[in-house]
Amino acid sequence: MKIMSVVGARPQFVKLAPIAHAAAAAGHEHIIVHTGQHYDPLLSDVFFRDLGIPTPDAHLDVGSGSHGAQTGAMLSKMDDILHQFKPDCVLVYGDTNSTLAAAVSAVKLHYPVAHLEAGLRSFNRAMPEEHNRVLTDHAADLCLAPTETAMRHLDAEGLAASSVLVGDVMTDVLFQTRDSVLAGSTPHPFAGEFEAGAYYLATIHRAESTNDPARLAEIAVALRNADKPVVLLAHPRLRVKAEEHGIKLDGGSLTTRDPLAYPELVKAVLASAGVVTDSGGLQKEAFLLRVPCTTIRTETEWVETIELEWNVLANTSDEISAALTRARPADTNAAPYGDGHAAERAVAVIARTFSDA
Ligand code: UD1
Repeated sequence: MKIMSVVGARPQFVKLAPIAHAAAAAGHEHIIVHTGQHYDPLLSDVFFRDLGIPTPDAHLDVGSGSHGAQTGAMLSKMDDILHQFKPDCVLVYGDTNSTLAAAVSAVKLHYPVAHLEAGLRSFNRAMPEEHNRVLTDHAADLCLAPTETAMRHLDAEGLAASSVLVGDVMTDVLFQTRDSVLAGSTPHPFAGEFEAGAYYLATIHRAESTNDPARLAEIAVALRNADKPVVLLAHPRLRVKAEEHGIKLDGGSLTTRDPLAYPELVKAVLASAGVVTDSGGLQKEAFLLRVPCTTIRTETEWVETIELEWNVLANTSDEISAALTRARPADTNAAPYGDGHAAERAVAVIARTFSDA
């Protein structure tokens, strides 16, 4: 069958990698469409290169813009792409504007839609990702859920009949990358500068953390006052917003660096004393690598990381400082994010559901 993956933002490229490999292994034709939401090489090209993802078959080149402008540009360009490739199923990933645009355009033209990473909820209606994921789940013909918690949310919204638990594809790619990083020669990205176990690795990029100057300033102060060096991998959005608000990031314990390619990121997490982030993916990656995480948000979709005490939500300066210096959590064998074979399962379910479409 012909599966079309539509991706556009960094975390979607990571999730695309195991799906592309599983689709090829199962002998399916796999069309990759890149919306162009992320275009900086460090947010896009390096993932295709390092994770062995085939070059996209089509590129929409939408670039940045307001939610409406960006989503609308993708919508208007997707029509031609769908008519050109005529896929048996359009697979959309996660919760970005690229996810929603691809789902809506496919539904309008009567192409079946599958949503990977369906059923996650923060219940925070102020988050753009929450609108994107709720609307996409309800537009989709098939919801591929990463966790039991996600399945319960889908059930509660009347979507149980179109939902299947497949596990989390990020576990697939993370375990493969971890194993090759541990076996291979990926250099420690901060060698000679920040010693293993002696720094925190940070990322901050969300609208809720960066749009309000007071909020961003409070986060910056907390990180500058940390008890160990903090290496902040600065997403372009963070740099743009800090500059706009006149907030200096570097200083005290805090040093900024450009975003890392995926193997280097995994290496940097493994060598850190802890992760501080507002990212969804990184919270889970830290847990899977058994590195303590401090999440600068008021809630998380990955509630299992909190229940197992490997992740703590912290917002004020005091909360962040207490979370960073807390004792290491108890070891656990819990595997709420699957066994590393979610992509094979997702592709098999897609084929079963849509093969005679
Ligand atoms: C998007 C997703 C978010 C995801 C994140 C991963 C939405 C609503 N948000 O947020 O869910 O967690 O990707 O990184 O879809 N920019 C660049 N170069 C780029 C891309 C962006 O400089 O290649 C800058 C631009 O100033 C742009 C800003 O970053 O306006 C925001 O980019 P955008 O794609 O709107 O959202 P992200 O913050 O990246």
